[in-house]
Amino acid sequence: MTKITTHTNNSARLFARARRCIPGGVNSPVRAFKSVGTSPVYLASGNGSKVYDADGRDYIDFCGSWGPLILGHAHPEVVDAVQKTAMKGLSFGACHPLEVEMAELLCSLLPHVDMVRLVNSGTEAVMTALRLARAFTDKTYILKFDGCYHGHVDSLLTSAGSGLLTNTIPASAGVSQDVVSEIISIPYNDVSAMAAAFEKYGNQLAAVIVEPVVGNMGLVEPLPGFLQKMRELCSTHAVCLIFDEVITGFRFHAGSYADLVGIIPDISVFGKIIGGGMPVGAVAGKESIMRLLAPEGDVYQAGTLSGNPVTLAAGIATLKVLRQHNPYPRMAELATLFTETANEFAAKQGINAHCAVAGSVFTLFFTGTKPLINLDMVKRCDAQQYGHYHNFMLKHSFYLPPSQFELNFISAANTEDEITSATAATSEFFHRMS
Ligand SMILES: Cc1ncc(COP(=O)(O)O)c(C=O)c1O
Repeated sequence: MTKITTHTNNSARLFARARRCIPGGVNSPVRAFKSVGTSPVYLASGNGSKVYDADGRDYIDFCGSWGPLILGHAHPEVVDAVQKTAMKGLSFGACHPLEVEMAELLCSLLPHVDMVRLVNSGTEAVMTALRLARAFTDKTYILKFDGCYHGHVDSLLTSAGSGLLTNTIPASAGVSQDVVSEIISIPYNDVSAMAAAFEKYGNQLAAVIVEPVVGNMGLVEPLPGFLQKMRELCSTHAVCLIFDEVITGFRFHAGSYADLVGIIPDISVFGKIIGGGMPVGAVAGKESIMRLLAPEGDVYQAGTLSGNPVTLAAGIATLKVLRQHNPYPRMAELATLFTETANEFAAKQGINAHCAVAGSVFTLFFTGTKPLINLDMVKRCDAQQYGHYHNFMLKHSFYLPPSQFELNFISAANTEDEITSATAATSEFFHRMS
């Protein structure tokens, strides 16, 4: 039986202090645990598959810092690389050998990529990708998909307007209508809406940006033919296809999702795993586009800490371990084990929930409807029930993403025993629901 923990004392005290000096007490909104109706657990350390909170309680981690920690916490080879590099200086704001090593490594692991520019976050990389696409095509409109998240870039913080194929409206205060008026947002997996958008805006579209497998609605996979059609329409209308691989990059194999499925975007964006837990982002693509970046071209982009040596040491070590040890099949087996067992329990106990899985990521959706293929469908999940599930799992020592609309990430450090106890706790939760 799984053990029961309650998190309060030190985490609660820290949160009370944080709320006085950090807006909402957090440095990124989802950490506030608002969507699960509680307050955050403060994580003080991590090792392998486990994290330890400020009260010394341990949890099996299925969040992995939202994806970067594919090798688990404090992997010895990654920590060693970071320590050795840090001893030689934290930052130079100048050219450094690891920048060359990382760029060469990425180009060798990403056959569709000729060149990369390293930045500090996925958001920054997306911003640069949009600028590049606009410069390359000399057009301005961007087509995106409802429910895909591409960081907090002003223009992409939008939701669909009142009707399909209307311009979008700002989804955040402080974003001007002018900025979002060049963004079109349509439902994911909707080929006819996409064809109609190209019909209407094709001549003005600079880029289509997409999460090729969506992580930010919970797991939503592309339907067969959806990405192929996107590629075809982009080629026909001279529009840049941007794959946002901040989550999918190096998540399903030691490379991109694009290369895995043979659909080649014009620009790709990476983050998370390639920094091994340190802040990072990368824009990557064909030479003809990438050479537009300053100082070679006239698309301006810069960063004091870009290509930081300590970050790159962590990223390079992570990618090398992934390439050498290929933990992917095993991680996928574990995610499938959770999924199949949870689905079996849900069916047996008549619970309106199902788990979707792809490789090492999964989402337990609190709805009986499946498959979920777009935001409208996902929004109908019982997010409050997910909140109860999250609290229950936390008490049973499992640290899950604190929102229904996110992925669980299996790492190479997770074990079959951990999955078995997670499914046992899930079954107990279903039993209480029924
Ligand atoms: C698909 C996707 N793109 C971009 C981003 C933004 O990355 P960052 O948080 O590093 O700015 C995220 C963050 O979760 C993401 O999931």
